[in-house]
Amino acid sequence: MESPEPSHSFASDNNSGVHPAVMEALERVNEGHVLAYGEDPYTATAIDAFRGLFAAPVEVLFCWGGTGANIVGLHSILQSFQAVICAASSHINVDECGAAEWMLGTKLIDLEAPHGKLTPSQVEDQMYVLGDEHHVQPGALSVTQSTESGTLYTLDELGELAEMAHRFGLKVHLDGARLANACAAEVMRPEDLLDAGIDVLTFGGTKNGAMYGEAVVFLDPSLAERARFLRKQNAQLPSKMRYIATQFGALFENDLWLDNARTANTMASRLGKAVASLDGVVLASPPQVNALFARLDRRAIDALQSWSYFYDWDQSRNEVRWMCSFDTTNQDIDRFVAGVAEALALAP
Ligand SMILES: Cc1ncc(COP(=O)(O)O)c(C=O)c1O
Repeated sequence: MESPEPSHSFASDNNSGVHPAVMEALERVNEGHVLAYGEDPYTATAIDAFRGLFAAPVEVLFCWGGTGANIVGLHSILQSFQAVICAASSHINVDECGAAEWMLGTKLIDLEAPHGKLTPSQVEDQMYVLGDEHHVQPGALSVTQSTESGTLYTLDELGELAEMAHRFGLKVHLDGARLANACAAEVMRPEDLLDAGIDVLTFGGTKNGAMYGEAVVFLDPSLAERARFLRKQNAQLPSKMRYIATQFGALFENDLWLDNARTANTMASRLGKAVASLDGVVLASPPQVNALFARLDRRAIDALQSWSYFYDWDQSRNEVRWMCSFDTTNQDIDRFVAGVAEALALAP
């Protein structure tokens, strides 16, 4: 490969560094002693910012990471004999090393969900076991927004799913590792999730310019009291909480979280348009947020991956994932597209 490689890869929004404003905020709070475990003023300020964002008295529990935050959120709504309905492609099902099954002892009822999206009738179809003590009881529905397939639920779709779940007494969990990208795509605002009927969600920071740390947001605040204890039991209570809370404070200032996600989405859209014009690249669909899924010749994939790494998505179909981040630049896109064209020419 002779094309110059992009400075930022397209492997994952987890691969990017920390946004400078977040880094500066961390520096600012790195001063003196404050109480630990969230009793500090920075954590209180960040929780207030979440309440402003959701325009509601939500409760917020900061956690170390996304898998842990999902565990805390799910644990807070499940009993030992209950199961979680989720998409087969969901992160909790395929990318968390069985954490929910192992740590919560829950069963995941993983349903095939085209484009990562469940439908209300799929949920309804699972309800025939309710009340039968021989069957694990569906207790929660978990959806991801934006989805692992880079798609979006509309607000109506989320509302209909939650309505179906609530009709049968299930709680609704939303994995929002990339909620910012959904909000930047303007399909919803955080406060809309209350009307849609979401009970608890993970609000991602790491993929949006933070160093680490995610927040579990309880739209039904009554769930949070129990969850405080569960967070500690699940090893997700950070002692120096100020460093996680402050990152969210910085992201919410002047809507940096939306700007970051908007940049990532816009870059993915640009990349999508550019590669779609190349012979030999087939996109699953135009990108809706910051990830695109493309099929191309295996030899071209191999050449590209050794030049600028990205992940295979479905090897059986030669499908790969290209993901943009808040720091992806126009130059990165231009270089990557030139690289794809070169790799395709090497493997005619
Ligand atoms: C949809 C989704 N949920 C949760 C996570 C959080 O994972 P981690 O535990 O690696 O922070 C990720 C990370 O890639 C994700 O893509």
